Amino acid sequence: MNDDEPVQRPLGALDLDRAARLHREAFEPMGERGWTRQDIAGLLASPGTAGFLLAAKSGDVGMAICRIAADEAELLTVAVDPRHRRQGAGRRLLEAVIDKVRLAGARTLFLEVGMDNPAARALYDSVGFVAVGHRKGYYARAAGPPADAVVMRLTLK
Ligand SMILES: CC(C)(COP(=O)(O)OP(=O)(O)OC[C@H]1O[C@@H](n2cnc3c(N)ncnc32)[C@H](O)[C@@H]1OP(=O)(O)O)[C@@H](O)C(=O)NCCC(=O)NCCS
Repeated sequence: MNDDEPVQRPLGALDLDRAARLHREAFEPMGERGWTRQDIAGLLASPGTAGFLLAAKSGDVGMAICRIAADEAELLTVAVDPRHRRQGAGRRLLEAVIDKVRLAGARTLFLEVGMDNPAARALYDSVGFVAVGHRKGYYARAAGPPADAVVMRLTLK
């Protein structure tokens, strides 16, 4: 077994700085504002919210946060450290979210993704999400005009 195999676990109150770093380093290169530790603490304190941290001994790999409300859930974010991309971490985090919300009773999982984000769109397509809506100018970008978002839905069996 690889001694540096990443391990996934619930994201807790002691992980806020690590989660904020992962979020910042994933989103700021796309011109999006990274979340602060306070942003993440606020989310984790709100009802129905849960997160995951994927970490190896050598460093953090990724994080995801979702929210469940009755039979609907939402993926709020997923972020993988740029040095660990295309190794299955994003899919692993997404599958953890899907299992979590399904077990909690959700029947559908929604998300929004930038039209200008082909990596994330390909990830969501690969697990069966379908586009169900479009939000014009949804994401502010540091440079250039705001980006449109696609709303996607996964029906949970
Ligand atoms: C989107 C993101 C989470 C994907 O993480 P990842 O660990 O690289 O993804 P995985 O290795 O699990 O890839 C799973 C599948 O997604 C698709 N995919 C991922 N990155 C891709 C890319 N750059 N180009 C094309 N397809 C891609 C592929 O289908 C891939 O399967 P494959 O490697 O067998 O071809 C990562 O790129 C990231 O953190 N981006 C910045 C933050 C972000 O955009 N989050 C989502 C906001 S809605």
